[in-house]
Amino acid sequence: MKKIAVFTSGGDSPGMNACVRSVVRTGIYKGLEVYGIYRGYEGMIEGDIKRMYSHSVSNIVQRGGTILKSARSMEFKTPEGRKQAYENLKAHGIEGIVAIGGDGTFTGAKIFQEEFGIPTVGCPGTIDNDLYGTDFTIGFDTAVNTALEAIDKIRDTAAAHDRIFFIEVMGRDAGFIAVESGIGGGAEFVMVPETKTDLNKVVKSLRNIRANKSSSIVVVAEGDEEGNAETIMQKVKDKIQDPEKDFKVTTLGHIQRGGNPTAHDRLLGSLCGMAAVEGLIDGRTNCMAGIMDQKVVYTPFGDCIGKEKPLNELHLKLIDILSI
Ligand code: F6P
Repeated sequence: MKKIAVFTSGGDSPGMNACVRSVVRTGIYKGLEVYGIYRGYEGMIEGDIKRMYSHSVSNIVQRGGTILKSARSMEFKTPEGRKQAYENLKAHGIEGIVAIGGDGTFTGAKIFQEEFGIPTVGCPGTIDNDLYGTDFTIGFDTAVNTALEAIDKIRDTAAAHDRIFFIEVMGRDAGFIAVESGIGGGAEFVMVPETKTDLNKVVKSLRNIRANKSSSIVVVAEGDEEGNAETIMQKVKDKIQDPEKDFKVTTLGHIQRGGNPTAHDRLLGSLCGMAAVEGLIDGRTNCMAGIMDQKVVYTPFGDCIGKEKPLNELHLKLIDILSI
């Protein structure tokens, strides 16, 4: 193998740049030519592919976002789009690909690899932490800390006004960000898609807030089956029927995707990038390079996106105990 390419796709996540840097430098260290594909599958279809050098990835390890840019491509879902992408890679002599992204990225990579046979290894880049085969995904730690900082600030004003806040965090169908930021932020309740929350329990607890407890925080994962934070707040407010209680909603949104990556995400991105290139050189394909128990683990794309990654039972137990 002489030429490899790297791209980032789907929702960006802090630490993707560290991962790109690691892929480029590991590739060069191992004697390969490395190419960057811009805007994910869109750029692959449009032939937006450029040679990368060691200096191309200087001064990026500390930056959020992705220098390769990202996109969610509809065209890549069509056979014609994928054929065009293959032609472009062939024209550049690309013999291996590192795909940095989440479940959508790996779904595309799996189909593409099976259709055209270009060896592909993935790196888990998403704030959602919803990929099986790695303890953490690149960007999750930063997103949790961003959400936590916001929750702390909201707690200040919530306490000053004796208010009840419903704070919505990202995570698509997964509650990892909600659980970890909720525990760290001392939330009274954490609502996640993986477990059903008894709204009557929330109502009962908020109705009887202790006299000396001036604020309440309910962290809601965006994918919760009861609806978004606004809907849930309304349901609870309607049930509580207490005009003295003041309810507010804050949706944290895309601030959770930005910002300088934490040390953890820089290290994880760098490790996964190195492991992906080494995997390609060793003949691996159709799999993701993740880190479990501090070791590199290669997991087939099919399992990464198909197998459920459960929330940590201890975390759920903690939430229950600490919210009394
Ligand atoms: O997958 C990452 C993520 O930030 C999810 O948490 C969220 O549901 C989604 O992407 C938002 O996507 P977009 O940036 O396209 O609105």
